[in-house]
Amino acid sequence: MVDRSTGLAGRRIVVGISGGIAAYKSPELVRRLREHGAEVRVVMTESATAFISPLTLQAVSGHRVHRQLLDEQAEAAMGHIELARWADQVVIAPASAGLIARLAAGLADDLLTTLVLATEARIWLAPAMNRVMWANPAVADNCRRLASREVTLLGPASGSQACGEEGPGRMIEPDRIVKALLDVVRPGPLTGRRFLVTAGPTFEDLDPVRFIGNRSSGRMGFAVAGALADAGASVCLVAGPVQLDTPPGVERVDVRSAGEMLEAVLARIDPCHGFVAVAAVADYRPVEPARHKIKKSGQPLTLSLEPCPDILATVAALPEPPFVVGFAAETHDLESYARGKLERKRLDLIAANRVGDGSGFECEHNALEVYSRDCHWSLQPQSKTTLAHALVEIIAQQMQQREESTP
Ligand code: PMT
Repeated sequence: MVDRSTGLAGRRIVVGISGGIAAYKSPELVRRLREHGAEVRVVMTESATAFISPLTLQAVSGHRVHRQLLDEQAEAAMGHIELARWADQVVIAPASAGLIARLAAGLADDLLTTLVLATEARIWLAPAMNRVMWANPAVADNCRRLASREVTLLGPASGSQACGEEGPGRMIEPDRIVKALLDVVRPGPLTGRRFLVTAGPTFEDLDPVRFIGNRSSGRMGFAVAGALADAGASVCLVAGPVQLDTPPGVERVDVRSAGEMLEAVLARIDPCHGFVAVAAVADYRPVEPARHKIKKSGQPLTLSLEPCPDILATVAALPEPPFVVGFAAETHDLESYARGKLERKRLDLIAANRVGDGSGFECEHNALEVYSRDCHWSLQPQSKTTLAHALVEIIAQQMQQREESTP
Protein backbone atom coordinates (compact mmCIF):
# COMPACT_ATOMS: atom_id res chain seq x y z
CA MET A 1 0.00 0.00 0.00
CA VAL A 2 1.32 3.43 -0.92
CA ASP A 3 0.99 6.08 1.81
CA ARG A 4 0.42 9.45 0.06
CA SER A 5 0.02 11.47 3.24
CA THR A 6 3.71 11.82 4.21
CA GLY A 7 6.27 14.33 3.01
CA LEU A 8 7.87 11.75 0.73
CA ALA A 9 4.78 11.36 -1.49
CA GLY A 10 5.67 12.51 -4.99
CA ARG A 11 9.27 13.30 -4.01
CA ARG A 12 11.92 12.45 -6.56
CA ILE A 13 14.69 10.53 -4.88
CA VAL A 14 17.94 9.26 -6.37
CA VAL A 15 19.26 6.30 -4.36
CA GLY A 16 23.02 5.97 -4.91
CA ILE A 17 24.70 2.68 -4.10
CA SER A 18 28.46 2.26 -3.73
CA GLY A 19 30.45 -0.94 -3.26
CA GLY A 20 30.03 -2.65 0.11
CA ILE A 21 28.40 -5.68 1.66
CA ALA A 22 25.64 -3.41 3.05
CA ALA A 23 24.40 -2.97 -0.53
CA TYR A 24 22.13 -5.95 0.18
CA LYS A 25 19.99 -3.50 2.25
CA SER A 26 19.51 -1.05 -0.66
CA PRO A 27 16.54 -2.81 -2.33
CA GLU A 28 14.71 -2.63 1.01
CA LEU A 29 15.43 1.12 1.18
CA VAL A 30 14.06 1.62 -2.35
CA ARG A 31 10.96 -0.43 -1.51
CA ARG A 32 10.23 1.61 1.63
CA LEU A 33 10.69 4.93 -0.13
CA ARG A 34 8.22 3.83 -2.79
CA GLU A 35 5.75 2.73 -0.10
CA HIS A 36 5.73 6.39 0.97
CA GLY A 37 4.83 7.42 -2.59
CA ALA A 38 8.33 8.61 -3.58
CA GLU A 39 9.56 8.22 -7.15
CA VAL A 40 12.95 6.51 -7.06
CA ARG A 41 15.78 6.23 -9.58
CA VAL A 42 18.85 4.15 -8.71
CA VAL A 43 22.46 5.01 -9.55
CA MET A 44 25.09 2.31 -8.88
CA THR A 45 28.87 2.57 -8.92
CA GLU A 46 30.75 -0.15 -10.79
CA SER A 47 31.90 -1.80 -7.53
CA ALA A 48 28.31 -1.81 -6.16
CA THR A 49 27.37 -4.19 -8.99
CA ALA A 50 29.82 -6.75 -7.53
CA PHE A 51 27.63 -6.89 -4.39
CA ILE A 52 24.11 -6.67 -5.79
CA SER A 53 22.59 -7.08 -9.21
CA PRO A 54 21.27 -4.00 -11.04
CA LEU A 55 18.35 -6.17 -12.13
CA THR A 56 17.19 -6.47 -8.51
CA LEU A 57 17.26 -2.68 -8.16
CA GLN A 58 15.49 -2.28 -11.50
CA ALA A 59 12.73 -4.60 -10.29
CA VAL A 60 12.18 -2.80 -6.97
CA SER A 61 12.49 0.75 -8.37
CA GLY A 62 10.48 0.04 -11.52
CA HIS A 63 13.10 1.85 -13.62
CA ARG A 64 16.31 1.06 -15.45
CA VAL A 65 19.34 1.45 -13.17
CA HIS A 66 21.81 4.20 -14.11
CA ARG A 67 25.46 3.03 -14.05
CA GLN A 68 27.64 4.71 -16.68
CA LEU A 69 28.48 8.38 -17.08
CA LEU A 70 29.06 8.00 -20.80
CA ASP A 71 26.21 5.69 -21.73
CA GLU A 72 24.63 6.89 -24.97
CA GLN A 73 21.33 5.11 -24.39
CA ALA A 74 20.94 6.35 -20.80
CA GLU A 75 21.95 9.90 -21.76
CA ALA A 76 19.29 9.91 -24.48
CA ALA A 77 16.59 8.80 -21.98
CA MET A 78 17.55 10.93 -18.94
CA GLY A 79 21.08 12.33 -19.08
CA HIS A 80 23.15 12.73 -15.91
CA ILE A 81 22.51 16.47 -15.69
CA GLU A 82 18.78 15.96 -16.17
CA LEU A 83 18.83 13.26 -13.46
CA ALA A 84 20.73 15.64 -11.15
CA ARG A 85 18.04 18.31 -11.71
CA TRP A 86 15.19 15.82 -11.48
CA ALA A 87 16.12 14.78 -7.93
CA ASP A 88 14.96 16.65 -4.85
CA GLN A 89 16.82 14.24 -2.53
CA VAL A 90 19.93 12.12 -3.16
CA VAL A 91 20.40 9.28 -0.66
CA ILE A 92 23.64 7.29 -0.93
CA ALA A 93 23.39 4.03 0.98
CA PRO A 94 25.79 2.42 1.50
CA ALA A 95 28.45 5.13 1.19
CA SER A 96 31.85 3.43 1.24
CA ALA A 97 35.06 5.05 2.56
CA GLY A 98 36.27 5.33 -1.04
CA LEU A 99 33.12 7.10 -2.23
CA ILE A 100 33.17 9.46 0.78
CA ALA A 101 36.80 10.38 -0.07
CA ARG A 102 35.93 11.04 -3.72
CA LEU A 103 32.92 13.17 -2.73
CA ALA A 104 35.00 15.13 -0.18
CA ALA A 105 37.62 15.80 -2.89
CA GLY A 106 34.89 16.95 -5.30
CA LEU A 107 35.83 14.36 -7.92
CA ALA A 108 33.54 13.66 -10.86
CA ASP A 109 35.04 10.39 -12.04
CA ASP A 110 31.88 8.32 -12.38
CA LEU A 111 28.13 8.84 -12.71
CA LEU A 112 27.35 9.01 -8.98
CA THR A 113 30.09 11.52 -8.04
CA THR A 114 29.27 13.66 -11.09
CA LEU A 115 25.58 13.66 -10.20
CA VAL A 116 26.36 14.79 -6.64
CA LEU A 117 28.38 17.74 -7.99
CA ALA A 118 25.68 18.65 -10.49
CA THR A 119 22.64 18.53 -8.20
CA GLU A 120 20.95 21.15 -6.05
CA ALA A 121 19.08 18.41 -4.18
CA ARG A 122 19.70 17.67 -0.52
CA ILE A 123 22.34 14.94 -0.10
CA TRP A 124 22.24 12.17 2.51
CA LEU A 125 25.00 9.61 3.13
CA ALA A 126 24.70 6.36 5.10
CA PRO A 127 28.34 5.32 5.62
CA ALA A 128 29.22 1.63 5.84
CA MET A 129 32.73 0.28 6.39
CA ASN A 130 34.99 -1.66 8.74
CA ARG A 131 35.26 -0.11 12.25
CA VAL A 132 39.02 0.63 11.90
CA MET A 133 38.42 2.40 8.59
CA TRP A 134 35.60 4.42 10.19
CA ALA A 135 37.97 5.45 13.03
CA ASN A 136 40.71 6.50 10.58
CA PRO A 137 41.37 10.27 10.81
CA ALA A 138 41.30 10.52 7.00
CA VAL A 139 37.70 9.23 6.93
CA ALA A 140 36.73 11.46 9.88
CA ASP A 141 38.26 14.43 8.10
CA ASN A 142 36.38 13.66 4.84
CA CYS A 143 33.08 13.33 6.75
CA ARG A 144 33.66 16.69 8.49
CA ARG A 145 34.32 18.33 5.12
CA LEU A 146 31.11 16.90 3.68
CA ALA A 147 29.06 17.87 6.74
CA SER A 148 30.37 21.45 6.42
CA ARG A 149 28.90 21.45 2.87
CA GLU A 150 25.47 20.53 4.26
CA VAL A 151 25.68 16.86 3.36
CA THR A 152 23.74 14.93 6.04
CA LEU A 153 25.42 11.84 7.47
CA LEU A 154 23.11 9.11 8.78
CA GLY A 155 24.93 6.76 11.15
CA PRO A 156 26.83 4.53 10.99
CA ALA A 157 25.45 2.11 13.57
CA SER A 158 27.51 -0.06 15.86
CA GLY A 159 27.44 -3.87 16.03
CA SER A 160 28.84 -7.01 14.48
CA GLN A 161 30.40 -6.46 11.07
CA ALA A 162 30.62 -8.62 7.93
CA CYS A 163 34.40 -8.89 8.48
CA GLY A 164 33.79 -10.56 11.85
CA GLU A 165 34.74 -7.52 13.95
CA GLU A 166 32.50 -5.59 16.35
CA GLY A 167 32.11 -1.79 16.48
CA PRO A 168 30.85 1.31 14.63
CA GLY A 169 30.66 1.19 10.84
CA ARG A 170 27.48 -0.75 10.03
CA MET A 171 25.05 0.98 7.65
CA ILE A 172 21.94 2.07 9.58
CA GLU A 173 18.76 0.18 8.72
CA PRO A 174 16.59 1.36 5.78
CA ASP A 175 13.63 2.23 8.06
CA ARG A 176 15.89 4.59 10.08
CA ILE A 177 17.03 6.26 6.85
CA VAL A 178 13.40 6.71 5.77
CA LYS A 179 12.49 8.10 9.21
CA ALA A 180 15.34 10.64 9.02
CA LEU A 181 14.01 11.83 5.66
CA LEU A 182 10.43 11.98 6.95
CA ASP A 183 11.59 14.17 9.88
CA VAL A 184 12.96 16.76 7.46
CA VAL A 185 10.89 16.47 4.29
CA ARG A 186 7.55 17.75 5.57
CA PRO A 187 4.33 17.40 3.59
CA GLY A 188 3.38 20.59 1.79
CA PRO A 189 -0.15 21.72 0.89
CA LEU A 190 0.18 19.94 -2.48
CA THR A 191 1.95 16.76 -1.35
CA GLY A 192 0.75 13.75 -3.34
CA ARG A 193 -0.61 15.97 -6.19
CA ARG A 194 0.64 15.92 -9.77
CA PHE A 195 0.83 19.11 -11.84
CA LEU A 196 1.58 19.83 -15.45
CA VAL A 197 2.85 23.33 -16.27
CA THR A 198 3.55 24.95 -19.65
CA ALA A 199 6.11 27.73 -19.94
CA GLY A 200 7.98 29.87 -22.42
CA PRO A 201 7.20 30.81 -26.01
CA THR A 202 6.45 28.56 -28.95
CA PHE A 203 8.28 28.91 -32.26
CA GLU A 204 6.30 28.30 -35.42
CA ASP A 205 8.61 27.65 -38.34
CA LEU A 206 8.20 29.62 -41.57
CA ASP A 207 11.06 27.87 -43.32
CA PRO A 208 14.22 26.04 -42.13
CA VAL A 209 15.79 29.27 -40.84
CA ARG A 210 12.91 31.56 -39.76
CA PHE A 211 10.07 31.28 -37.29
CA ILE A 212 7.27 33.25 -35.62
CA GLY A 213 8.02 33.56 -31.90
CA ASN A 214 7.37 35.91 -28.99
CA ARG A 215 9.12 37.58 -26.08
CA SER A 216 8.38 35.03 -23.35
CA SER A 217 11.55 34.11 -21.43
CA GLY A 218 9.92 31.23 -19.54
CA ARG A 219 10.77 32.83 -16.15
CA MET A 220 7.17 33.05 -14.91
CA GLY A 221 6.34 29.45 -15.87
CA PHE A 222 9.57 28.06 -14.42
CA ALA A 223 8.90 29.97 -11.19
CA VAL A 224 5.39 28.47 -11.00
CA ALA A 225 6.77 24.95 -11.58
CA GLY A 226 9.38 25.49 -8.83
CA ALA A 227 6.80 26.88 -6.39
CA LEU A 228 4.48 23.90 -7.00
CA ALA A 229 7.39 21.51 -6.31
CA ASP A 230 8.22 23.48 -3.13
CA ALA A 231 4.59 22.96 -2.04
CA GLY A 232 5.16 19.20 -2.31
CA ALA A 233 3.63 18.57 -5.76
CA SER A 234 5.14 16.31 -8.34
CA VAL A 235 5.64 18.59 -11.35
CA CYS A 236 6.20 18.07 -15.06
CA LEU A 237 7.15 21.20 -16.97
CA VAL A 238 6.56 21.37 -20.71
CA ALA A 239 8.87 24.13 -21.87
CA GLY A 240 9.10 26.00 -25.15
CA PRO A 241 12.53 27.15 -26.40
CA VAL A 242 14.12 28.96 -23.41
CA GLN A 243 17.56 29.29 -21.82
CA LEU A 244 16.71 28.47 -18.20
CA ASP A 245 17.77 25.81 -15.69
CA THR A 246 15.09 23.34 -14.63
CA PRO A 247 13.91 24.03 -11.04
CA PRO A 248 15.03 21.31 -8.58
CA GLY A 249 12.68 18.35 -8.32
CA VAL A 250 10.88 19.19 -11.57
CA GLU A 251 10.74 16.92 -14.62
CA ARG A 252 11.14 18.82 -17.89
CA VAL A 253 10.06 18.13 -21.45
CA ASP A 254 11.35 20.49 -24.15
CA VAL A 255 9.19 21.33 -27.15
CA ARG A 256 9.30 23.92 -29.93
CA SER A 257 5.90 24.54 -31.50
CA ALA A 258 2.28 24.80 -30.29
CA GLY A 259 1.56 21.44 -31.96
CA GLU A 260 4.43 19.76 -30.06
CA MET A 261 3.35 21.42 -26.81
CA LEU A 262 -0.23 20.16 -27.21
CA GLU A 263 1.03 16.64 -27.93
CA ALA A 264 3.37 16.67 -24.88
CA VAL A 265 0.57 17.98 -22.64
CA LEU A 266 -2.05 15.46 -23.79
CA ALA A 267 0.44 12.58 -23.35
CA ARG A 268 0.98 13.54 -19.69
CA ILE A 269 -2.29 15.11 -18.49
CA ASP A 270 -4.04 11.91 -17.50
CA PRO A 271 -2.89 11.31 -13.91
CA CYS A 272 -2.61 15.09 -13.18
CA HIS A 273 -4.60 16.90 -10.49
CA GLY A 274 -3.72 20.35 -11.80
CA PHE A 275 -2.73 22.12 -15.03
CA VAL A 276 -1.20 25.60 -15.14
CA ALA A 277 -0.81 27.15 -18.60
CA VAL A 278 1.80 29.91 -18.35
CA ALA A 279 3.22 29.46 -21.86
CA ALA A 280 2.81 32.21 -24.42
CA VAL A 281 1.56 29.86 -27.12
CA ALA A 282 1.36 31.22 -30.66
CA ASP A 283 -2.20 31.99 -31.74
CA TYR A 284 -1.36 31.53 -35.44
CA ARG A 285 1.14 29.44 -37.39
CA PRO A 286 2.07 29.13 -41.08
CA VAL A 287 -0.37 26.85 -42.90
CA GLU A 288 2.60 25.02 -44.40
CA PRO A 289 6.20 25.86 -43.49
CA ALA A 290 8.41 26.12 -46.60
CA ARG A 291 10.77 23.17 -47.09
CA HIS A 292 13.53 25.43 -48.37
CA LYS A 293 14.64 28.90 -47.31
CA ILE A 294 12.23 31.53 -48.69
CA LYS A 295 14.21 33.66 -51.13
CA LYS A 296 14.16 37.46 -51.20
CA SER A 297 12.34 38.66 -54.31
CA GLY A 298 11.98 42.40 -53.76
CA GLN A 299 8.17 41.94 -53.85
CA PRO A 300 5.79 42.10 -50.81
CA LEU A 301 5.41 38.69 -49.18
CA THR A 302 2.05 37.40 -47.95
CA LEU A 303 2.08 34.69 -45.29
CA SER A 304 -0.85 32.35 -44.94
CA LEU A 305 -1.52 31.58 -41.27
CA GLU A 306 -3.95 29.23 -39.52
CA PRO A 307 -5.04 29.22 -35.84
CA CYS A 308 -2.92 27.09 -33.46
CA PRO A 309 -4.69 24.56 -31.24
CA ASP A 310 -5.71 26.11 -27.91
CA ILE A 311 -3.94 23.87 -25.37
CA LEU A 312 -5.61 25.39 -22.30
CA ALA A 313 -9.14 25.11 -23.74
CA THR A 314 -8.43 21.54 -24.90
CA VAL A 315 -7.40 20.46 -21.37
CA ALA A 316 -10.34 22.28 -19.74
CA ALA A 317 -12.75 20.52 -22.14
CA LEU A 318 -11.53 17.00 -21.26
CA PRO A 319 -14.30 14.77 -19.87
CA GLU A 320 -12.62 14.76 -16.43
CA PRO A 321 -10.46 17.88 -16.41
CA PRO A 322 -7.90 18.56 -13.67
CA PHE A 323 -7.96 21.86 -11.73
CA VAL A 324 -7.20 24.27 -14.59
CA VAL A 325 -5.35 27.58 -14.22
CA GLY A 326 -4.85 29.87 -17.20
CA PHE A 327 -2.81 33.04 -17.62
CA ALA A 328 -3.93 36.12 -19.52
CA ALA A 329 -1.46 38.55 -21.06
CA GLU A 330 -3.26 41.85 -21.73
CA THR A 331 -2.21 45.35 -22.70
CA HIS A 332 -5.52 46.90 -21.51
CA ASP A 333 -8.93 46.07 -19.94
CA LEU A 334 -7.23 43.38 -17.85
CA GLU A 335 -10.25 42.36 -15.80
CA SER A 336 -12.86 42.08 -18.56
CA TYR A 337 -10.55 40.11 -20.94
CA ALA A 338 -9.36 37.84 -18.11
CA ARG A 339 -12.90 37.14 -16.88
CA GLY A 340 -13.96 36.50 -20.51
CA LYS A 341 -11.22 33.85 -20.86
CA LEU A 342 -12.12 32.33 -17.48
CA GLU A 343 -15.73 31.80 -18.63
CA ARG A 344 -15.11 30.93 -22.30
CA LYS A 345 -12.36 28.38 -21.61
CA ARG A 346 -14.14 27.02 -18.49
CA LEU A 347 -11.17 27.58 -16.16
CA ASP A 348 -11.00 27.31 -12.37
CA LEU A 349 -8.64 30.28 -12.03
CA ILE A 350 -7.03 32.85 -14.28
CA ALA A 351 -3.92 34.92 -13.50
CA ALA A 352 -3.86 38.11 -15.53
CA ASN A 353 -0.80 40.27 -16.11
CA ARG A 354 -0.27 43.51 -17.91
CA VAL A 355 2.16 43.21 -20.84
CA GLY A 356 3.86 45.76 -23.07
CA ASP A 357 5.84 48.79 -21.85
CA GLY A 358 8.47 46.40 -20.43
CA SER A 359 6.15 44.57 -18.04
CA GLY A 360 5.15 40.88 -17.90
CA PHE A 361 7.39 39.41 -20.59
CA GLU A 362 11.17 38.91 -20.18
CA CYS A 363 11.63 40.88 -16.94
CA GLU A 364 12.43 39.51 -13.45
CA HIS A 365 9.35 41.03 -11.75
CA ASN A 366 5.64 40.84 -12.37
CA ALA A 367 2.23 41.51 -10.78
CA LEU A 368 -0.92 39.41 -11.12
CA GLU A 369 -4.66 39.90 -10.80
CA VAL A 370 -6.09 36.44 -10.07
CA TYR A 371 -9.77 35.69 -10.69
CA SER A 372 -12.01 32.74 -9.94
CA ARG A 373 -15.73 32.87 -10.72
CA ASP A 374 -16.46 34.58 -7.40
CA CYS A 375 -13.14 35.79 -5.94
CA HIS A 376 -10.36 38.20 -6.82
CA TRP A 377 -6.80 38.44 -5.45
CA SER A 378 -4.40 41.28 -6.24
CA LEU A 379 -0.73 40.20 -6.12
CA GLN A 380 1.46 43.29 -6.08
CA PRO A 381 4.69 43.73 -8.13
CA GLN A 382 7.43 41.41 -6.84
CA SER A 383 9.98 38.92 -8.15
CA LYS A 384 8.46 36.18 -10.31
CA THR A 385 9.72 33.59 -7.79
CA THR A 386 7.91 35.20 -4.83
CA LEU A 387 4.86 35.89 -6.96
CA ALA A 388 4.69 32.25 -8.06
CA HIS A 389 4.68 31.12 -4.42
CA ALA A 390 1.75 33.46 -3.66
CA LEU A 391 -0.14 32.14 -6.69
CA VAL A 392 0.50 28.53 -5.65
CA GLU A 393 -0.94 29.29 -2.19
CA ILE A 394 -4.16 30.44 -3.88
CA ILE A 395 -4.19 27.36 -6.14
CA ALA A 396 -3.74 25.00 -3.14
CA GLN A 397 -6.45 26.73 -1.15
CA GLN A 398 -8.93 26.78 -4.08
CA MET A 399 -8.28 23.11 -4.91
CA GLN A 400 -8.94 22.18 -1.30
CA GLN A 401 -12.14 24.23 -1.25
CA ARG A 402 -13.34 22.56 -4.44
CA GLU A 403 -12.63 19.09 -3.03
CA GLU A 404 -14.43 19.87 0.21
CA SER A 405 -17.50 21.09 -1.65
CA THR A 406 -17.55 18.10 -4.07
CA PRO A 407 -19.75 15.33 -2.67
O1 PMT B 1 7.90 33.98 -19.83
P1 PMT B 1 8.06 35.34 -19.18
O2 PMT B 1 9.03 36.22 -19.90
O3 PMT B 1 8.36 35.22 -17.71
O4 PMT B 1 6.65 36.08 -19.29
C1 PMT B 1 5.54 35.61 -18.60
C2 PMT B 1 4.24 35.72 -19.42
C3 PMT B 1 3.92 37.20 -19.67
C4 PMT B 1 4.39 35.00 -20.76
C5 PMT B 1 3.13 35.02 -18.58
O5 PMT B 1 2.98 35.67 -17.35
C6 PMT B 1 1.78 35.01 -19.32
O6 PMT B 1 1.02 35.96 -19.32
N1 PMT B 1 1.49 33.89 -20.01
C7 PMT B 1 0.30 33.71 -20.87
C8 PMT B 1 0.62 34.31 -22.21
C9 PMT B 1 -0.53 34.15 -23.20
O7 PMT B 1 -0.36 33.49 -24.19
O8 PMT B 1 -1.65 34.71 -22.82
P2 PMT B 1 -3.02 34.68 -23.72
O9 PMT B 1 -3.89 35.66 -23.04
O10 PMT B 1 -2.71 34.86 -25.18
O11 PMT B 1 -3.53 33.20 -23.52
C10 PMT B 1 -4.46 32.83 -22.51
C11 PMT B 1 -4.15 31.46 -21.99
O12 PMT B 1 -4.35 30.48 -23.00
C12 PMT B 1 -2.74 31.26 -21.48
O13 PMT B 1 -2.80 30.45 -20.31
C13 PMT B 1 -2.05 30.49 -22.60
O14 PMT B 1 -1.02 29.61 -22.10
C14 PMT B 1 -3.20 29.69 -23.18
N2 PMT B 1 -3.09 29.39 -24.61
C15 PMT B 1 -3.12 30.39 -25.53
C16 PMT B 1 -3.06 30.10 -26.86
C17 PMT B 1 -2.98 28.72 -27.28
N3 PMT B 1 -2.92 28.42 -28.55
N4 PMT B 1 -2.96 27.76 -26.35
C18 PMT B 1 -3.01 28.07 -25.02
O15 PMT B 1 -2.97 27.16 -24.18
